[in-house]
Amino acid sequence: MNKAIDQKLQKEVDKRRTFAIISHPDAGKTTLTEKLLLFGGAIRLAGTVKARKASKHATSDWMEIEKQRGISVTSSVMQFDYLDHRVNILDTPGHQDFSEDTYRTLTAADSAVMLIDVAKGVETQTVKLFQVCAKRGIPIFTFINKLDREGRSPFDLMEELENVLGIRSVPMNWPIGSGRELCGVYDRMKNQVELFQGDDHSVIKVQKVESYRDPIIREMAGEYLHDQLCQDLELLDVAGDPFDYDKVLRGEITPVFFGSAINNFGVQTFLDNFLELAPKPEPRRSTIGSIEPTNEKFTGYVFKIQANMNPAHRDRIAFLRIVSGKFERGMSVKHVRAGKDIKLSQPQQFLAQDRDIVEEAYPGDIIGLFDPGIFRIGDTLSQAGDMEFDELPTFSPEIFAKVSIKNALKSKQFQKGIDQLTEEGMIQVFRTVSFDDILLGVVGQLQFEVFEYRMKGEYGVDIQLQRMTYQFARWIVDENKPDPSKFRINSTLVTDKKGNYVVLFENEYAMRTAVDKNPTAKFLETAP
Ligand code: G4P
Repeated sequence: MNKAIDQKLQKEVDKRRTFAIISHPDAGKTTLTEKLLLFGGAIRLAGTVKARKASKHATSDWMEIEKQRGISVTSSVMQFDYLDHRVNILDTPGHQDFSEDTYRTLTAADSAVMLIDVAKGVETQTVKLFQVCAKRGIPIFTFINKLDREGRSPFDLMEELENVLGIRSVPMNWPIGSGRELCGVYDRMKNQVELFQGDDHSVIKVQKVESYRDPIIREMAGEYLHDQLCQDLELLDVAGDPFDYDKVLRGEITPVFFGSAINNFGVQTFLDNFLELAPKPEPRRSTIGSIEPTNEKFTGYVFKIQANMNPAHRDRIAFLRIVSGKFERGMSVKHVRAGKDIKLSQPQQFLAQDRDIVEEAYPGDIIGLFDPGIFRIGDTLSQAGDMEFDELPTFSPEIFAKVSIKNALKSKQFQKGIDQLTEEGMIQVFRTVSFDDILLGVVGQLQFEVFEYRMKGEYGVDIQLQRMTYQFARWIVDENKPDPSKFRINSTLVTDKKGNYVVLFENEYAMRTAVDKNPTAKFLETAP
């Protein structure tokens, strides 16, 4: 391989940053994404991303909207250039769109930005998403948003990060005042202040200073706010954690930035710092060892499959994360599981509202492949021989229902639908050991509704769903075959699609009892 191409590949890898923004609904993810895209010039008008927030509506029109706009892939990945970087933002749907897809998307990110509302602190959905990222050990950067509103004290929020999420934090900047009194932020790393001026704070002035004690800040912010800033930062200097980049990269400590997305306060400095500190595309583990992004042989894996909601168009889009090498349109790659070569002729890249055909792409990039039904979640595409990437984790569902068909004559189509939609990763299917009932598990309620709709639309099957009270699943690994009679109270023993034993629990208490009663068993949060 020619040296010049290696260097080009290295350069492309070095400039890429692929991350997801994780947050609880309403923390400001749409607003922040929009501002980031604006800095990159990827969209001309603020409001473009907002428009896709059509997801704040009832389920029935969600279907309608999906139909009208065809495959709703446009919002799944956004790419833009900023300074020397090529940035890929992976969307993690919130609200009713929250699903296992959201978790799986995080496996394609090299880092995460955790967005927190200054008044609300760490909320439930943030905790779930954080845990998925923390398990992978990816760096997590925190942006505390809505600083223009009255909120909780920064120290209080740092304590909450530690108590609720178990992660220590290092403030990269610090608010000067808060809510209506907010007048700026002090950048601890660069020793500069960012002051928000004018009646509506719309002028942002950046000023280099000696330290936070610099009298310039006193002049600008007034005595009271400056005293408070000095007190806070003295305390942080003495009692706070030092900034340790290796710990950040291992996900053991989170750099914290304060700002206000809607007013653009602290957003650009956040973006600058984040892009500097966030990791470039990382190697991925495979059956032939770790695959470096700079390996010139093209490889990648499918982490999400999005179906077309319109029954007249059964095509799907498979989202591929490129791990190594250069992608070129029309190239032939091995679809390792299927054992055959395929030509990647219709790949798409997703940018704000448009779908463009992509001619070339590099590690860290996400491309959408037209899928006539040949891909499954976790599939490897490779020019590096018969290697496969580690399987993507199967996450515990959080909502369960018993499914049955209304018309027994349709059982063949019913089975086909269940098999295909399970493969696509839209639902998880379990069978009870005692009665052979079919139970479905999902992460978000909307998945059930979409499942019901697609079973009818695509397979012609009317189904009945009966909600169960289970709240989570644990895969049980034991040298002895599990005994269903031990899992009768607030729990049940089932098997997953691969025949693994799984216990569904109604609550933590039921799980603790089961752990006590089965000392030789291990209860795993993801499938073995
Ligand atoms: P999400 O995607 O995380 O769900 O949140 P989104 O950006 O839609 O923001 C949720 C609400 O919070 C929006 O208000 C938005 O304008 C507001 N918001 C976002 N960032 C800030 C901020 O820095 N300061 C303040 N004060 N508000 C912020 P909304 O009233 O629900 O919607 P809209 O009427 O503004 O569209």
